[in-house]
Amino acid sequence: MDYKKLAEIAIDARENAYVPYSKFKVGAAVLTYDGSIYTGCNIENASYGATNCAERTAIFKAISEGHKKIKAIAIVGDMSTNTYPCGICRQVIAEFATKDIQIILVKNEENYIIKTMDEILPGAFTKEDLLK
Ligand code: THU
Repeated sequence: MDYKKLAEIAIDARENAYVPYSKFKVGAAVLTYDGSIYTGCNIENASYGATNCAERTAIFKAISEGHKKIKAIAIVGDMSTNTYPCGICRQVIAEFATKDIQIILVKNEENYIIKTMDEILPGAFTKEDLLK
């Protein structure tokens, strides 16, 4: 899978963002090991705290459809910069990441950077720490 394509899919998914409060649209696209793609957007709530980020929307869609691990995730915010996942989303990505997961921080269709899990969440607390 070409990551430019995954970036474009995340940009399209961003259109569905429900952001009456922050007006900050985020899109995400998850690639699974069988080549399936799940998209997500942020979905805000009047309570604020019930807001779901784009990354978690996409990841939970993939996991709820039976996938166990994710191969890559593309994330796009306001497109003037590379938007990094929030702390909670980094933790959720870590839960379903393999060692070689690629986290694609998209600025626009032409520009993105690729990060590893260790770069965005060094020393992550994981299932391996808990289930020793
Ligand atoms: N947001 C995401 O969707 N993903 C992130 O990783 C950062 C934050 C959303 C949540 C909220 O709807 C808006 O961006 C502003 O925080």
